[in-house]
Amino acid sequence: MTPDDFKERFKSLKLTITALIVVFMMILGFAGLLIYDPQFFEENISKNTETITQGTDESGFIEGNYKMLVVANCTACHSSKLVTQNRASKEGWKNMIRWMQETQNLWDLGENEEKILEYLSKHYAPEGQGRRASLKVEAWYALDN
Ligand code: HEC
Repeated sequence: MTPDDFKERFKSLKLTITALIVVFMMILGFAGLLIYDPQFFEENISKNTETITQGTDESGFIEGNYKMLVVANCTACHSSKLVTQNRASKEGWKNMIRWMQETQNLWDLGENEEKILEYLSKHYAPEGQGRRASLKVEAWYALDN
């Protein structure tokens, strides 16, 4: 075997090993994805077939300023439905946030709080706002789902 032959063989061996490593990494990445989130594919499928209410996207929230802030901060612990099925004034939303902060470990929303309140009180305002006072909630209770 001449040194040139050897070089040639070594080159193709290097190529084979590189290709194997790449394939191995891809399999590993794919497996990791499945282990990390087994519903990864199913979830995307069901999202697409779900009926989409007008004016909302797959997050379930009405389009508007600061929507993504609300999605980011308000869907970590429960579904968006729990939020969107509620209506309240700015004060009412603030109370709900305070209640979650005091009892459910909701974090301090910092300067985003005002923006979140603006979004919620605009898009999820009580029906008939301005004609009657918003409901006063005396005692909160936890749902068990
Ligand atoms: C740290 C977890 C957490 C985060 C983040 C969170 N919540 Fe909640 N929230 C809860 C829990 C726990 C409940 C009680 C219901 C339950 O157990 O599913 C709840 C209930 C609610 C309810 C229903 C209250 C009722 O009794 O009808 C509303 C409305 C709500 N959250 C709005 C929000 C909004 C708006 C945000 C974002 C600012 C938010 N949540 C973020 C934990 C959280």
